[in-house]
Amino acid sequence: MNGMKLQVVSLLISLLAGSAPAAADSIPHVGVNLGGWFLIEEWMFSFGQFDRVAEMSDLPQGVVMPPLLPDGMGENWYGEGDLVNKIVAKYDEDFAVQVIEAHRQTYITDEDIAAMKSANITNVRMPLGWWAFVEESLKDASEVITDPAHSDMKFVTITQEALRTEIQRFKDEGINILLDIHAMPGGSSEGSYSGIFPSTPMFWDDEDLMDLGYSIIESLCDFYLGLDKDLQDSVTGITLLNEPAHNMDIDMYESVMTNWLAGAIDIYRKKIVEGGSDDVESVPKLFVNLIETAMSDQNMLDFFHSTFSPKELQNWAVLDIHHYFAWDGGHNGCYEEGSCSYQCSDSTTEEGLSAIQEIIKDGAAESHKFFFDNGTIPLVSCSEYSLATYDTSNDACRGQAVLNAMFQGQKDSFREQGLFGAFFWTWKMPYGGTHEDAWSLKKFLGLGS
Ligand SMILES: *[C@@H]1O[C@H](CO)[C@@H](O)[C@H](O)[C@H]1NC(C)=O
Ligand SMILES: *[C@@H]1O[C@H](CO)[C@@H](O)[C@H](O)[C@H]1NC(C)=O
Repeated sequence: MNGMKLQVVSLLISLLAGSAPAAADSIPHVGVNLGGWFLIEEWMFSFGQFDRVAEMSDLPQGVVMPPLLPDGMGENWYGEGDLVNKIVAKYDEDFAVQVIEAHRQTYITDEDIAAMKSANITNVRMPLGWWAFVEESLKDASEVITDPAHSDMKFVTITQEALRTEIQRFKDEGINILLDIHAMPGGSSEGSYSGIFPSTPMFWDDEDLMDLGYSIIESLCDFYLGLDKDLQDSVTGITLLNEPAHNMDIDMYESVMTNWLAGAIDIYRKKIVEGGSDDVESVPKLFVNLIETAMSDQNMLDFFHSTFSPKELQNWAVLDIHHYFAWDGGHNGCYEEGSCSYQCSDSTTEEGLSAIQEIIKDGAAESHKFFFDNGTIPLVSCSEYSLATYDTSNDACRGQAVLNAMFQGQKDSFREQGLFGAFFWTWKMPYGGTHEDAWSLKKFLGLGS
């Protein structure tokens, strides 16, 4: 690395850590997601053969699953449920367990954790499927289970012992953890991270599945309460469900979703807040993730006011909203003229680059503005953002100038707005082809693939 680059990287790292001298207050929860680890999304393993970030129901983009299937299995897959189902069909259940376990044991290495530490990353968000909080998760070894609503969707359980061991690894390096349930049985969002993609999400249509969802929330709370005190202290955040009802019919599902979520929050309140420690400071923050594809900003505010007391809003309830430029039509960038707000190639002139920086600044400033303008929600967070300027990675800007502007623009804006948490999506994407440039923090910071 040359001196200039080193300087840029260390400036970026200090911005990331919130320690830039000119900056206002730092963000209390600064971190990175561990996407693609305990919850496998197909696009991160598309191996340069596909470049769409969002899944497509007629194009299975999952290609490889190292280390045991480094060249794939001769057939592509849509999501984790489809992947495991296809491995079981082609080989057997034992081999499916081996493939997924080998992935889990090798994907986030000790070197990764050391690199995070060197970059002053203090928090990680750990996406998990519901298969970490079922009865089978209490066994000594993981096994294949089948989705209750889709017989052709299978998952390899995450044992709670394995989860505890992983939390310990981060704790040993002084890194705190946000546990985040990303998928519920039957499928709770229209996205490959729901596990059952491309099948229809059934969770919100079925009382039994929603009850099962409550038992998963209870199991998550019991898992937390069963941790030793020092491990409990390193779990500083919990998300009960990521992007609930994303891209599903709002008229049909919004109230079902918010009713269920209010019930899930009540389980958390009773078990963790009222049933746990007396010291409200040590209660993990509840990052309530909501998404604009499933409800309006105004309804999010109203939901927060009807669900939490002012004291709870002050102490532990965090409104968590993702922001991605890749789907932000007014502020996106690409190579092809006319398809987005600016052309990547404009960054070659000083004038062009500063115009791009303005667009990024505006986009980032608008991301959580509605909630800050309202002023009644003290803790607002963004648990997912990236450097992607477009939703197909071959078309997204990948030169260093725009990537730097994306990184710095968002960091500055998030800090100026006073966000409580900001988590990059995601730490690494070594099998992601052109996705890696704008979606891997590790690569962007020059810390490897
Ligand atoms: C990380 O933080 C420490 C303590 O604030 C600081 O001394 C160090 O320079 C930071 N490292 C980087 C790479 O920014
Ligand atoms: C904030 O939102 C709440 C809930 O919608 C509303 O009652 C209140 O008037 C709003 N306050 C401001 C300053 O906009």
